[in-house]
Amino acid sequence: MGSGQDTPAGPDLRAGIKVGDLPDGRMMAGQVDGEAVLLAHVGNEWFAIGATCSHYSGPLPEGLLVGDTVRCPWHHACFSLRSGQPLRPPALNDVPCWNVEVQDGTVRVGVKRKPAPPQRRSKGPESVLIVGGGAAGNCAAETLRRDGFEGPITIVDPDPDAPYDRPNLSKDYLAGNAPEEWIPLHPPEFYQEKGIELRRGPRVASLDPAGRRVRLDDGTELRYGALLLATGASPIRLGAELEAGPPAVHYLRTLADSRRIAGAAHEGGRAVVLGASFIGLEVAASLRARKMEVHVVAPEARPLERILGPELGDMVRQVHQEQGVMFHLGRKASAVSGGRVVLDDGQSLPADLLVAGIGVRPNLRLAESAGLALDRGVLVNEWLETSAHGVFAAGDIARWPDPHTGERIRVEHWVVAERQGQAAARAILGERERFDAVPFFWSLHYSVGINYDGHAERWDRIEIEGDVAARDCTVRYQRGDKVLAVATVGRDRESLEAEHALESELAR
Ligand SMILES: Cc1cc2nc3c(=O)[nH]c(=O)nc-3n(C[C@H](O)[C@H](O)[C@H](O)COP(=O)(O)OP(=O)(O)OC[C@H]3O[C@@H](n4cnc5c(N)ncnc54)[C@H](O)[C@@H]3O)c2cc1C
Ligand code: FES
Repeated sequence: MGSGQDTPAGPDLRAGIKVGDLPDGRMMAGQVDGEAVLLAHVGNEWFAIGATCSHYSGPLPEGLLVGDTVRCPWHHACFSLRSGQPLRPPALNDVPCWNVEVQDGTVRVGVKRKPAPPQRRSKGPESVLIVGGGAAGNCAAETLRRDGFEGPITIVDPDPDAPYDRPNLSKDYLAGNAPEEWIPLHPPEFYQEKGIELRRGPRVASLDPAGRRVRLDDGTELRYGALLLATGASPIRLGAELEAGPPAVHYLRTLADSRRIAGAAHEGGRAVVLGASFIGLEVAASLRARKMEVHVVAPEARPLERILGPELGDMVRQVHQEQGVMFHLGRKASAVSGGRVVLDDGQSLPADLLVAGIGVRPNLRLAESAGLALDRGVLVNEWLETSAHGVFAAGDIARWPDPHTGERIRVEHWVVAERQGQAAARAILGERERFDAVPFFWSLHYSVGINYDGHAERWDRIEIEGDVAARDCTVRYQRGDKVLAVATVGRDRESLEAEHALESELAR
């Protein structure tokens, strides 16, 4: 993913523009001292913030203006126009913010403002312990500090590399297009500066909600005032008979997994990917970028059909076939040995590298042994508290009452996990705001990105606008008259509008 704003475009905003050049409710790209700046006109107010998203450099002027905020077209981060602060993940860092002066019919961008210091607050528990430093855990810790919590915060995670940008592990990083420096969510000094203790290495082995303490697998006992469970998910394994190899089976969840797959990939080698899930297909694309021959084996008739429907499923297959991926659909692996993968129709595929992406299971063991209420996930209420007082859960493990569908749902999306981490942190600080974000995910197949808003496990109608074959379309998943979810290809702004429309429906 490249920068959306390499060379600043638009007028010099220090020199200014005429008031009439930017109508109310609009924004534009400009520049100040060589920096890309977004100028927005909202009612009687004017705002100027950095035009480049702090997540992956998306072009904010191409996003959506909602009140005094702007949303990024690429992965739907939201920034305050008043302060440049990220209000919604996946962006975690501020963008710069400038003063704006209006005089004699001219609007001019003035001096850059200092970032606002975090608010201080005396409320909150004595300490917060976060189990799992992934999307949800990291975002919860950051939000606690941003919102002024001054007590001790500890993140425990067995992964020596946590917290990092997990979605990149199957995309640019695995393809060899993103250096490893891009993968950590922050430089190591960030956590020290924020007073967030990262205990990497040990795993939380048991949780005692009544005694408000946990035991780590190195024997240490830790006490807490409030606890967030954010243990994520683990790949489903193939089973011993297919794992014997050779080749050995690779799974992909951690940075170490991605490093191992990248290390085993080589130009001209032959790779077999089991599973045509998002991860399986992204791995296939990355291995093609490394010039491997790639075969994808999956039991379904079309990739991603259960999530995206037949039309987009066929499009995704077409995109991969154009890049040379060979599909074996309706098939399963029945044996792996002697450097070959044998399929259930007797076909035998040579394999130097074997990667399985056949789904994940939420990591529930800790919650289960602590006696928390479970239902295919950890059950949480509308502010993400579990059945145990003072114990919250977020991310891939949490099943929450979703006000949009009226159902309890659990999803496995990066942005949802981050937003839940943020919401759980606020609930821990006593702000009982219902978690009502519209679920959002993105997936990238070569240069074709799919954005998806909402949640549709079942639908009775798919409505398509645009041209699927041309990779320029909006797909609506409906039950009765209700639009449950919207997928877009090549239409980033429509995806933002769909997210906003789904949110607004709730407000009505
Ligand atoms: C390769 C890959 C690509 C992906 N791409 C996308 C994408 O493009 N878009 C998208 O929306 N989603 C994507 N996802 C899904 C997304 O990464 C997850 O939904 C998200 O990471 C979930 O966040 P989480 O905080 O719940 O769990 P995680 O991020 O998995 O973090 C959980 C953490 O808990 C730790 N942990 C587990 N057990 C314990 C314990 N007992 N004690 C202490 N720590 C523990 C783990 O080590 C881990 O670090 C991708 C996932 C993978 C693996
Ligand atoms: S680039 Fe803006 S949200 Fe990702």
